[in-house]
Order: sequence, then structure tokens, then C-alpha cells
Amino acid sequence: MSRAVTILVGTTTGNAQYCAEEAVFRLQAADIQAQIRPMDDLDATVFAGGGLYLICISTYGQGDVPDNARGLYLSLVTDKPDLGAVRYGLISLGDRSHAQTFGFAGRRFDTQLTKLGAQRVGDVLTHDASSGTMPEEATAEWLVGWSARALEGDAAAA
Ligand SMILES: Cc1cc2nc3c(=O)[nH]c(=O)nc-3n(C[C@H](O)[C@H](O)[C@H](O)COP(=O)(O)O)c2cc1C
Repeated sequence: MSRAVTILVGTTTGNAQYCAEEAVFRLQAADIQAQIRPMDDLDATVFAGGGLYLICISTYGQGDVPDNARGLYLSLVTDKPDLGAVRYGLISLGDRSHAQTFGFAGRRFDTQLTKLGAQRVGDVLTHDASSGTMPEEATAEWLVGWSARALEGDAAAA
């Protein structure tokens, strides 16, 4: 059982980072190792070797990934690595007032990772900034079910 999660953060104004920090706090309290890596300067090799990942990403522009996530996203699209050994969870931040592109950056990552053979664990947490709820509180609640499912998967694979 690996009991370790790499948390990749794509953000513009920091909300996704707050979610990642909340996730580290909760995971470590459950005796699961967790490490945050901002997406800046990462490429698809961050997934080499496989394992369990948590993607925390917001949407910007008109349905775009944040600037700090662009290199990683493009690398996944162009390098097309085999991600068969990767399992991931997804926290997607957006704002429903952008009705045509709500949560699109999260969707882009979800689609691309799945296309490359990675297996998503659990449902996507999609947070709406116009809902009046705090994304880190939503993260804490969602993480209970997600970490249980993720570790079940580890046990099954062991
Ligand atoms: C200039 C701008 C453009 C945005 N575009 C979108 C969008 O296209 N779709 C969406 O769902 N949210 C959009 N958002 C909302 C952000 O994704 C949301 O506020 C999120 O919580 C920001 O997270 P971050 O602080 O981690 O970057 C936009 C926000 C700003 C300021």
C-alpha cells in the first residue's frame, strides 16, 4: 500500500493552493503522506513511475488552464505518455457565472489524463466560486470519501 499522494496545483489567485494545503493537512492526519507540487515548470514526466495524484486546478481566461499549468497540460497533449500506472483525484475550481466554460480547465485535465490511460478515483469535486462556500471546506468534506476510495484501490492493487 503506497499511502502517498502527490498533489499538483494549477492556480492563478491561490484558491487551488488553499485546497491543496487543506488536503495535505487532512491526509497527513490520516497517516497518508502528501506532497504539494505547484505545476510551474512541470511536464508530463511528473507522472513517471505512476502512483496516486490529486490535481487541484482552477479555470481562467475563457475556459483555459492557469498560466502555471500550461506547460504541464501541453506536455500531456504533445508527449502522450502512457499513464496506465497513474490514479488520480480531481478538484476543479471555477465560477458558474462563466456559464459556457464552467470548470473547463478541470475537464481538460480529466479528459487528457483518462485518454492517456490514467484511472480517476471517485467523482470530481467541482467548486463554484459564486456559491458562497469556501473551496477548502468543500475539499475537507470531499476528501473523506476520496481518500477512503483511493486507499481501497491501493489495498486491492497490493
Ligand atoms: C479573469 C477570470 C477568468 C475566469 N474564467 C473562468 C472560466 O472561464 N470558467 C470558470 O469556471 N471559472 C472562471 N473563473 C473563476 C475562477 O476559476 C475561480 O474564481 C477560482 O476559484 C479561482 O481559483 P484560483 O485562485 O486557484 O485561481 C475566472 C476568474 C477570473 C478572475
